[in-house]
Amino acid sequence: MKTSAPVSPDRLIDEIMGYRKAKILMVAAYIDVFTPLTTPRTAAAMARRLKLDPRAMEILLDALTAIGYLHKRGRLYANAPISARYLVRGKPGYMGDNLKYQEMIWDAWGDLRHSIGKGGAVRPLEYWLLRHKGFTQEYIKGMDNIARGPAAEIAALAAPAPGSRLLDVGAGPGTYSLAFLRANPEMSATLLDLPSTLKVTRRMLAEFPGLAARTRLKAGNYRDACFGRGEYDLVLLSHITHDESPEVNRRLIEESRRALKPGGKIIIHDFMLEPDRVRPVFGALFSVHMLAYTEGGRTYTAGEYAGWLRRAGFSRLTEHPIAVESRNSSRILIGVKEK
Ligand SMILES: C[S@@+](CC[C@H](N)C(=O)[O-])C[C@H]1O[C@@H](n2cnc3c(N)ncnc32)[C@H](O)[C@@H]1O
Repeated sequence: MKTSAPVSPDRLIDEIMGYRKAKILMVAAYIDVFTPLTTPRTAAAMARRLKLDPRAMEILLDALTAIGYLHKRGRLYANAPISARYLVRGKPGYMGDNLKYQEMIWDAWGDLRHSIGKGGAVRPLEYWLLRHKGFTQEYIKGMDNIARGPAAEIAALAAPAPGSRLLDVGAGPGTYSLAFLRANPEMSATLLDLPSTLKVTRRMLAEFPGLAARTRLKAGNYRDACFGRGEYDLVLLSHITHDESPEVNRRLIEESRRALKPGGKIIIHDFMLEPDRVRPVFGALFSVHMLAYTEGGRTYTAGEYAGWLRRAGFSRLTEHPIAVESRNSSRILIGVKEK
């Protein structure tokens, strides 16, 4: 594939600045400099407030100003519009939890050189979920930050019949289930996830007691759990297949089919690559993210998902783009269990 990127050493300097910018932003979100900077403050005041070093705070805040996340007037720093909108805790568009998760998983990127030799993560997702203190909470809240728009879109596209029963496999924060329940007052949802994740899910669902009353939490490992037999109208696999190998994904799809009633539908939602696997850029980079912290995950093509679905006995496959306007747009594939 040809690219029109300039052939210049400056391009390489830009890439190096790219990782520095990303790390600065992730650390700033992690220690949450943005919520207090709704009011202009000096570096010394920020250091006192966050109980951190004043010299380091000044260097960090200057860099955040240089890259456009803060404004500086005299010695006072304040949020630039992008930070005010997306990085202040409590704002509807808050993305800070997702950046906190990216900061925590940065250590997995530190292992990347070794992952290339090994063919998979040095410290896989299980390590982060089960053994890394505090990771699960940031990971699950971080998923919710990016799920709300796509969840509403998918619920509208799927248009389930009244009274439908949904199984949400690897449900995480439950954002997708909640979107379905919000749009369909008679629907109910079962959220399957690891027990450690469900502790976080339970706390997040408590914010929506009306909807939570129509949910059931089912603890289990999706790699070997029985999903049920002929019980559900809809099974959703959202952003879990990229964490897993083709073998695990085929099992997830076959088990989903067993859990569905005749005429029921499976929805696979994920980032997907074009057949050449190099477009879109987000998908190609996300595949490396998976290489860094999963055993067998990567970004798959829509054709691969369609092949697994047909092999498992799904038909009438349809494909829809999701969040097309965004950098991290995704796709869904819907398949029907005929009998
Ligand atoms: C990337 S998150 C996706 C969450 C949600 N489906 C979404 O789209 O926002 C992956 C989810 O899979 C869950 N998960 C990972 N391994 C699992 C396993 N072996 N069994 C059950 N759930 C698992 C994680 O706890 C997490 O909630």
